[in-house]
Amino acid sequence: MAVLVTGGAGFIGSHTAVELINSGKEIIIVDNLCNSNIQSVENIKKITNINNIPFFEYDCCCKKKLTEIFQKNHIESVIHFAGLKAVGESVEQPLKYYSNNLKSTLTLCEVMNKFNCNKLVFSSSATVYGSPETVPIKETFPTSTTNPYGTTKLMIENILKDICIANPNFSVACLRYFNPIGAHQSGLLGEVPNGIPNNLMPYITQVAVGKLKILSVFGNDYPTHDGTGVRDYIHVVDLAKGHLNALTYIENHCGFETFNLGTGVGYSVLDIIKTFEEINNITIPYKITERRPGDVAVCYADPTKSKDLLNWQANLSLKDMCRDSWNFTKSTFK
Ligand code: NAD
Ligand code: WQD
Repeated sequence: MAVLVTGGAGFIGSHTAVELINSGKEIIIVDNLCNSNIQSVENIKKITNINNIPFFEYDCCCKKKLTEIFQKNHIESVIHFAGLKAVGESVEQPLKYYSNNLKSTLTLCEVMNKFNCNKLVFSSSATVYGSPETVPIKETFPTSTTNPYGTTKLMIENILKDICIANPNFSVACLRYFNPIGAHQSGLLGEVPNGIPNNLMPYITQVAVGKLKILSVFGNDYPTHDGTGVRDYIHVVDLAKGHLNALTYIENHCGFETFNLGTGVGYSVLDIIKTFEEINNITIPYKITERRPGDVAVCYADPTKSKDLLNWQANLSLKDMCRDSWNFTKSTFK
């Protein structure tokens, strides 16, 4: 009985693969490597000391290939990370995002149905809360989106909800991640952005390593403690562990449920820069620029539901996140 991990070569999927293996689960990875590298699968093996992790370089949009995986293996549940995630690119190329994110999920669900596999953990995002009116954000808050990437997540959530209504045996934990950063303590797994990073932490680490000259801080006139944007940064290892708890939950409950995976604490851009500089003893040159269109001032989770129902909470600190992000970038790019 195995857990199929789609997108398991990627940033969050690879960390989750390690946690699954360490907890004694048998896993199978499928990833078309469109935003990752086979090296991360090798590094999962290195960290876990397991040499025979089945890996399929297939596109989840391909029904024939997915069917082949389900035919050859006994798959009990699926964690579905596979998807495109760059917000800016999704605005420029919406069809690419609708096509990949929706088709891969629909195909996966069709194949799961055919093989009577009815347990799914889905990677959703805090982006489905749009511009929240208040914080902390609860799962019951209204949803809306501001870009095609976010819309794919919300559409998929609705599709999965409908599947659960139609099939009372189906069980979905929809995990709404806040801002995952950090890396594996080994320095072997982390985030490798394609081109110039859009997200804050990969930008900071690339400035630190000398690949980029200076960080632009997008606005210092927000109604926050220092004027810069506040987010709920969560260590990717804490996030990965949440998937194990979600699997346990769906083993015991049917139906559709959403969960916030965040720490419940918000930090500003300047807090991140300062902590990164202090813990790593390095200076990050930065300049204040205009606000980035579409950004909200403050976004952080109320993680109470995850604590109560999943028995999960984040444990690692902002210092851990900054130290591990730098440790990974140093060993990868220096
Ligand atoms: P990632 O790009 O590192 O990992 C996604 C993986 O999926 C990649 O390895 C990619 O090659 C693979 N993939 C994409 N489309 C595929 C397809 N059609 N078939 C097979 N493989 C495919 O991204 P990540 O940061 O690990 O994110 C994982 C999931 O979590 C994504 O669905 C993303 O939208 C979601 N998410 C990420 C964040 C974040 O900030 N990183 C926040 C919220 C939600
Ligand atoms: C964080 C803060 C920026 C870059 C995005 C997606 C969201 C989710 C997580 C997938 C903000 C500021 C950033 C920079 C800066 N992903 N910033 N200079 O926008 O909260 O969320 O990633 O689901 O959908 O939108 O994350 O890391 O881009 O920004 O000042 O060069 O850092 O303004 O306040 P965001 P981020």
